[in-house]
Amino acid sequence: MERGPSKESQAGAAVPAVPQPVAAPLTRSAIFLVVELNPRAESRAVVRSFCGEFAALFRAVEFRDLEGGLSCVMAFGSSAWDQLFGAPRPAELHPFREFRSGGRHAPATRGDILFHIRAKRADLCFELATQIMERIGSAVSVVDEVCGFRYFDDRDLLGFVDGTENPRGQAVLDAVLVRDEDPVFAGGSYLIVQKYLHNMAAWNALPTEAQERIIGRTKLSDVELDDSVKPTSAHNALTVIVENGNEVKILRDNMPFGRAGYGEFGTYFIGYSRSPRTIEQMLENMFIGRPPGNYDRLLDFSRAVTGGLFFAPSATFLDSLEGEPPAPADAPEPAATPAETEPSPPALRESDASLGIGSLKGDTANE
Ligand code: HEM
Repeated sequence: MERGPSKESQAGAAVPAVPQPVAAPLTRSAIFLVVELNPRAESRAVVRSFCGEFAALFRAVEFRDLEGGLSCVMAFGSSAWDQLFGAPRPAELHPFREFRSGGRHAPATRGDILFHIRAKRADLCFELATQIMERIGSAVSVVDEVCGFRYFDDRDLLGFVDGTENPRGQAVLDAVLVRDEDPVFAGGSYLIVQKYLHNMAAWNALPTEAQERIIGRTKLSDVELDDSVKPTSAHNALTVIVENGNEVKILRDNMPFGRAGYGEFGTYFIGYSRSPRTIEQMLENMFIGRPPGNYDRLLDFSRAVTGGLFFAPSATFLDSLEGEPPAPADAPEPAATPAETEPSPPALRESDASLGIGSLKGDTANE
């Protein structure tokens, strides 16, 4: 059944697909919104037609402050892709791979669609999220919503500057955009997200020099430690991936988040890459170790509570869905779940809100 990009957009390889703004500049504010499709054909139809209208909706909010640097990337998980678009599918899209070793665990958690909304102003992010939910709220259930903020000079809540070694210029596009290896999905990008919570009391009890050996950079001046003093377990050693003599880069736009009154201090990790294998290799090095056992000590102070792998198709792909009639699903209609009978969105319980740890931790629904 033809449910993917229109024939014209597939055949139109001569016109390069326009990517979504995955390489948008780092901003002061962000919202990471993860939703699940409600299990009815109407829900899929609502979301599909929303994809085609999304660019116009985005422009309407963006135009209210063109200086505000608003951007939004919409990305789909493996099972959502099948439900919404069917074949063809991005070659490397699969459920998030879990990693577990010792007491360390990178769990896979629920989530079909991720919206990565960025702007210089929090109100612009909030307005776009509101408009999105107005349109698809009846068709999805919110799994997680995190508001990220820049913390002083681009530091994470552990006090280190985060993002320095991101690629720049043309290197960004080379790092994040699918090209000829999967021509139908050229211009798309894979992304992995994980929400980490920090044990600030334990971290702050470490001397600065010990923290610096864990990260691999100096804290105040953000200079990389010399190899003679940098341990092989340093975060910025284990996350360097070299293939055929070349370093394979990813693009990160980590954001601090938290609720000081609840003692919650976190980093929302988001990494874009041309192939999910690169980020998976980094996670394996961090959680299992390179070699096994030589793991990332950052994980003694930071716990991953969510994990998801998504594909952000090109903007051209999303636009090509415009006007198409809702497609019937291949799969038999699943039975209604309580989520569908609740008001939409069936927000997390107040006690779970923002972090949703209780409901998400250890949930392997994506597997
Ligand atoms: C608790 C979560 C995390 C925190 C607080 C964190 C923080 C940092 C900091 C402070 C740096 C050094 C400055 C920089 O170059 O950006 C860094 C570098 C880096 N991180 Fe993370 N990170 C986290 C999770 C991750 C994860 C999950 C990955 C990938 C799976 C990752 C990949 C990288 C990479 C690729 C670099 C650059 C290495 C280099 O080329 O020097 N980080 N991170």
